[in-house]
Amino acid sequence: MADVVRVVVTGGAGQIAYSLIPHICKGLIFGPSTMVDLRLLDIEPAKDALKGVVMEIQDSAYDLMASVMATTDVAQAFKDVQVAVLLGGFPRKQGMERQDLIEKNVQIMRLHGQALEQHADRNCKVVVVANPANTNCLVAMKYAPSISPANFSALTRLDHDRLRGMLAAKVTEKSHHKISAKDIRNCVIWGNHSSSQVPDATHAEALVEGKWQAIAPLCNDPQWLEKELVPAVQNRGAAVIAARKLSSALSAANAVACHLRDWVGVTSSSTTGDGMFVSMAVISDGNPYGIPEGLVFSFPVASSNGKCEIVQGLSISTHVRELLDATVAELLAEREMATSIIAARQGAL
Ligand code: NAI
Repeated sequence: MADVVRVVVTGGAGQIAYSLIPHICKGLIFGPSTMVDLRLLDIEPAKDALKGVVMEIQDSAYDLMASVMATTDVAQAFKDVQVAVLLGGFPRKQGMERQDLIEKNVQIMRLHGQALEQHADRNCKVVVVANPANTNCLVAMKYAPSISPANFSALTRLDHDRLRGMLAAKVTEKSHHKISAKDIRNCVIWGNHSSSQVPDATHAEALVEGKWQAIAPLCNDPQWLEKELVPAVQNRGAAVIAARKLSSALSAANAVACHLRDWVGVTSSSTTGDGMFVSMAVISDGNPYGIPEGLVFSFPVASSNGKCEIVQGLSISTHVRELLDATVAELLAEREMATSIIAARQGAL
């Protein structure tokens, strides 16, 4: 990373941005000696809220803040950016069909993909968070053909960390070893960031008494591991909404920060490094798990220094394989919807 990193956050007046900004400006992603040139993009109705966020950034007097710009001008926001965090999207409203949600977000992702193509640094790294995140990412990628598809990702780190948190709680309950999520590694989220995602603890390990150990014996609850854990992770977002009356933001922002830190940042977490992996949704081309090409699909990845590679050779249990079919089918259907929306205008994905 250069001494100053140029970062755009779309949806800059939204709730995830509000929790993400401190991570960016306090060196928790790009390191303690990298200054930040931050651009917050939002739309006209959010202009005043955006001004308020900028006032608060100013009042925070961050040591690493080189400059901050709040704008509704897409070209200005994306000019020469090296990192793009796409939070801005059209929210799902009550009674809205998935097709309508995709239709609205295809327009936004097209705009932001074109802005990446026209204005961003050619090596810009992009993380798409706005839902439907995987398909949004595919659309943005399509409209920025001169930026490598390897530079695009969608966020499934929140789901990944939810799985780690639940495993840590279970080990603590069942094994009398008090551990936390930081002591769990090698979880996998496969597929879509939606309720069809496949949380997979088969390869997970817990750090107990100084040694990484297989998770299943420590959980000591096969029924929970096989039947309850997967739906609990799949539905965690809905559980947060039910409790908070707002969607996850604190944890989502933290997940974005960890995703970027492990991918492009100067530091890495205790769960990356030799033989360890995290989950990221990336282009499926050339994957070794039989997932159709041309999807943005969450895989186990090893990432550092701006590169990320799908981890090869993990065994997939019969149960996980069955669940994979549903998430693949959903992503294919989403791609089909996005393609037909785009084809009505110009070309297939
Ligand atoms: P929010 O509704 O608080 O903020 C979204 C912001 O995007 C709003 O300020 C809105 O004005 C802005 N926006 C809308 N259209 C825009 C455009 N064309 N250009 C720029 N900005 C635009 O939402 P929140 O809670 O910050 O969530 C952001 C997105 O992240 C949502 O789509 C949400 O569903 C998704 N999400 C994804 C997660 C993941 O793990 N992938 C986890 C949690 C949320």
